[in-house]
Amino acid sequence: MPGLPENRLPRDRAGRLWIFGYGSLVWRPAFAHEQQRPAWVRGWTRRFWQWSTDHRGVPGAPGRVATMVEQPGETCWGRAYALDPAQEDDILAALDHREQQGYDRRVVQLGFADGPGPAALVYVATPDNPSFAGPTPLTQIAEIIASRAGPSGPNREYLVELADALRAMDVDDPHVFALEALVADHRGVAGP
Ligand code: SIN
Repeated sequence: MPGLPENRLPRDRAGRLWIFGYGSLVWRPAFAHEQQRPAWVRGWTRRFWQWSTDHRGVPGAPGRVATMVEQPGETCWGRAYALDPAQEDDILAALDHREQQGYDRRVVQLGFADGPGPAALVYVATPDNPSFAGPTPLTQIAEIIASRAGPSGPNREYLVELADALRAMDVDDPHVFALEALVADHRGVAGP
């Protein structure tokens, strides 16, 4: 993964590194953090346009996971985490491994509900990565998600956990909630 040199990691005024999550990192960060807050980034939107053969699918039957794509005027809500500095290196190494299928580190400017936040690191699967699927009809994405599973569990779980977490934060995401409804229609038909 083409990472950022250590001296380019963004820092808040206290010297802490923030990670912004918009997919599985919203509901299963699985790393130590000193603080977490709902947060947003402007100019990006969340899409299930990334294939997964290492977490929510397998080679030959890939699943779909979220990435962020640039979309002027849009806002993507997620969850931001301030890292425990003592564990930062280990956490970044673990995240680089977890997000290894096509995700690059980017720096984004965060907003919080009550005002501007710090710059943060985010893992984005960009359109030039080999697992980028690109625009796909929602019904097709839903069929994939309803029927696939991988080493991290059913693809459906990724979507439902994300939708539940966004709802708990009062975040409206029409792409995610439309997919959730379509996948629910598949229950008992193609579901695992
Ligand atoms: C993220 O959640 O921020 C990155 C994508 C993922 O792990 O689902």
